[in-house]
Amino acid sequence: MSGDHPLSVTVETPTAGKYEQPTGLFINNEFVKAQDGKTFEVINPTDESVTCSVYEATEKDVDIAVSAARKAFEGPWRKETPENRGKVLVKLADLFEKNLDLLASVEALDNGKAVSMAKVDIGMAAGCLRYYGGWADKIEGKVTDTGPDTFNYIKKEPIGVCGQIIPWNFPLLMWSWKIGPAIACGNTVVLKTAEQTPLGGLVAAKLVKEAGFPPGVINVISGFGKTAGAAIASHMDVDKVAFTGSTVTGRTILKASAGSNLKKVTLELGGKSPNIVFDDADIDNAISWVNFGIFFNHGQCCCAGSRIYVQEGIYDEFIKRFKERAQKNVVGDPFAKDTFQGPQVSQLQFDRIMGYIKAGKEAGAKVEIGGNRKGDKGYFIEPTIFSNVTEDMKIMQEEIFGPVCSISKFKTKDEVIATGNKTTYGLAAAVHTRNLNTAIEVSNALKAGTVWVNTYNTLHHQMPFGGYKESGQGRELGEAALDNYTQTKTVSIRLGDALFG
Ligand code: NAI
Ligand code: MG
Repeated sequence: MSGDHPLSVTVETPTAGKYEQPTGLFINNEFVKAQDGKTFEVINPTDESVTCSVYEATEKDVDIAVSAARKAFEGPWRKETPENRGKVLVKLADLFEKNLDLLASVEALDNGKAVSMAKVDIGMAAGCLRYYGGWADKIEGKVTDTGPDTFNYIKKEPIGVCGQIIPWNFPLLMWSWKIGPAIACGNTVVLKTAEQTPLGGLVAAKLVKEAGFPPGVINVISGFGKTAGAAIASHMDVDKVAFTGSTVTGRTILKASAGSNLKKVTLELGGKSPNIVFDDADIDNAISWVNFGIFFNHGQCCCAGSRIYVQEGIYDEFIKRFKERAQKNVVGDPFAKDTFQGPQVSQLQFDRIMGYIKAGKEAGAKVEIGGNRKGDKGYFIEPTIFSNVTEDMKIMQEEIFGPVCSISKFKTKDEVIATGNKTTYGLAAAVHTRNLNTAIEVSNALKAGTVWVNTYNTLHHQMPFGGYKESGQGRELGEAALDNYTQTKTVSIRLGDALFG
């Protein structure tokens, strides 16, 4: 808690060796101390040890970062050509790839995710940054003819200073989803990482400078939601906030916008996604995707396929084989080669999930496998499958965000469409069937932003992602994300004589 903490410390990871971890706030292309000199500890979820401490932004630091972003927006960045905006984004993507092993190791250390999976995250982050680099010089307006006496054009302009608040489940992937489109459209950014996982965002900030971004265009700060996050959401000089996280915090951010300058808000929130397996599905394929759908990233996915509906003809066989499959998921040290599932991110998340498991047991659902902590150090939880789950149970309705799924049996297509949609969320869904008509009919009927058929969790930066209902507002990724970061200007020019004499 003092201002004499160093601005960089040496950290060691098992797969990338020793590296220099920045600890400051990245503002104006420099790592700086927080105004109050406050720091906070970063916990390694694998063994609960302290990895290091980083500087903690408070409202004063948010003010400084926002004015840096404002100055860059009104100054050098506004004058930059779209082509050059694209170039630096592509350079940043290249640097992500060049530093893939380091970035993936930092993610594994910070978040507890398996390093093999973290490598996929970093590859996807690079893909996303490069994709939006490609968009930078393709953002076009229109000329619209309203008659011979006028000349009208419609322009897409950047919004301005964008506050971006990201979660801890995919720290650098979310970093790239936010920064890519914002920068492509000509905005500047103050991004706050999640307090559980600040390390990767700061290493990536070093790459921002190396890629050649002018000072103030991308600012990255570490800090807590109720202080730094809230200061961004209610800031009078932030023009837009993009948020990924819980629905509860999403509501708070909307209120902060309403209570301040009505900044534009996009939200990517929670989910309780139905994963539907019909009798005619290729059962091996379905089991493999159902397993990946819920246990990937330890269940800490907003789109996790946590409500599993299996048709009655294959229900018993499905459960038997799904159990066998899930028991093969290697749970353990994120840095071990074969690990699929590491620890949950924090003590708080661990406790939350164990609370849901207890609630499921008490409500009378059947524990098919798991249901316990694994080991006595680190936040590990056994892959847990509940069967005989009814719609009224908490474990069927609330987002658990852990390696826990609820299975229930269904008879007909109409029935499963109705139950699948019986949730306040609408982020994702999946259908497993060999029948093309069933696949299309059910996909069209499900109220979700993404529907997967015979697959799960296969996101791609070219495809829009976001929620129906309380799962969010706006779409990330794809061309759709450009709408979040541009505003439309109409310019209307009178050519003819004065209308009213
Ligand atoms: P959270 O929504 O509170 O935190 C996400 C981000 O929002 C963090 O950067 C945090 O610092 C910030 N934040 C928190 N309160 C804020 C406020 N008042 N104003 C501005 N920013 C604020 O999520 P948390 O507490 O980490 O996890 C709780 C639950 O949220 C999880 O169990 C899960 O169900 C859900 N969640 C969903 C995610 C998703 O990908 N949609 C990601 C993380 C959590
Ligand atoms: Mg929270």
